[in-house]
Amino acid sequence: MFKPLLFILATIYVAHGKHEEYDGHSLYQVRVENAEQVDQLMNVVERFLLDVWTYAQPEQDGLILVSKELKPMFEEELKSIGVQFAIDTENIKQKLDLEDQLLANASIAEAGRMQRGLSFNVIHRYAVVDKYLSDLARQYSNVQVASGGKSVEGRDIKYLRISSNNFQSSNKPVVVIQSLLHAREWVTLPVTLYAIHKLVIDVTEQDLVRDIDWVIIPIANPDGYEFTHTRTRMWRKNRRTGMGLCIGVDLNRNFDFAWGTASSNQACSDTFHGPRAFSEPETQMTRDIINRYRSRIGLFIDVHSFGSLILYGYGNRQLPPHSNTLQQVAVEMAKRIDAVKWPANRNYRVGNIAQVLYQASGGCSDFAQARIGNKLSYTYELPAHRNLNNMNGFLVDPAFIRQAGYETWEGIKFAARYVVKNRNLYFENE
Ligand SMILES: *[C@@H]1O[C@H](CO)[C@@H](O)[C@H](O)[C@H]1NC(C)=O
Repeated sequence: MFKPLLFILATIYVAHGKHEEYDGHSLYQVRVENAEQVDQLMNVVERFLLDVWTYAQPEQDGLILVSKELKPMFEEELKSIGVQFAIDTENIKQKLDLEDQLLANASIAEAGRMQRGLSFNVIHRYAVVDKYLSDLARQYSNVQVASGGKSVEGRDIKYLRISSNNFQSSNKPVVVIQSLLHAREWVTLPVTLYAIHKLVIDVTEQDLVRDIDWVIIPIANPDGYEFTHTRTRMWRKNRRTGMGLCIGVDLNRNFDFAWGTASSNQACSDTFHGPRAFSEPETQMTRDIINRYRSRIGLFIDVHSFGSLILYGYGNRQLPPHSNTLQQVAVEMAKRIDAVKWPANRNYRVGNIAQVLYQASGGCSDFAQARIGNKLSYTYELPAHRNLNNMNGFLVDPAFIRQAGYETWEGIKFAARYVVKNRNLYFENE
């Protein structure tokens, strides 16, 4: 356990210029041949507490971020277990600086432009989104802003309720969409903001507001999100303290579904599940929303990045009884997105989370699925967009922000309308 201590000291002493803590960090592409190598690689990852961007599988190369200090040891380990590797990005700090410049330029370009609502040229900070949600509630009678409580650091976790009749029709399906449960997954924010835009400001499809009530949570992890802007771009967890040297709980391992069975019990790990299920105010907020609307939720979507995936439960490989429906609707959503996606991005893949990605416990969409029974719960993994400036993984090219919102909305709309069309299966008529 020497590594976390070294890491923290290093962070304290080098945090002068922006992204200095990432200077010399390399992004490795790794290729595994079989399940044994997958396990051996995971063992290395856990021992060195490495930052995994993509989990390696025999049919899918992995991406792992490694600090300058750990690179020699990491390469030795890979050689000894026979895992092939190549360097994808030599110094990730340069990519982080480029992301800053691109976003700064985009923000200068949009200054002074007349805008209805928030723009889709930049990634908006917490305070901007927070004010926007309250402004919308003041300006539009079908919009209410609610606070789901306060984050660990005391920020309001606000969400919108959008309804043509104040949630009064008990047989009208509710769709819940959430983004930024993981702090660094910036490109997920435009998805919820785009949905809000199309449901409130630029309404072109009336059936969506007439037939559905919406609950939209744009920033589920506000403390972690702000921390990725002010300090550590690749922060994933919340900002829980008081657990020793390391900070943060992985909120997407903290929900009460098979909690603690496929996640980390080390506070320093990026997949630390917390002291107990629902130990965190941020997960309690989503839990309370799910429980409050449980009988009416037809569709729940937790938006993450990255990998171009639509995933359903459960993270322990067990399939819900209606997994055929989950699969079929996911395939149709993927088709709608693929039809309008940018050509350089891969097609979406769909499937059970444990089969497509890895086993994971305490996940948000698993908890939602268990609570809403035979209705639809998904985790989206948005594309890693690599056009133009070759921005990879979690990094955002401003050129892709509007597209991310637009194309994902094509998928979400399909499932929302599927729920309306099949409401007799799900909801009793009044
Ligand atoms: C940002 O804008 C400046 C001024 O137009 C330009 O010189 C620079 O190349 C731009 N940066 C990027 C990363 O595009």
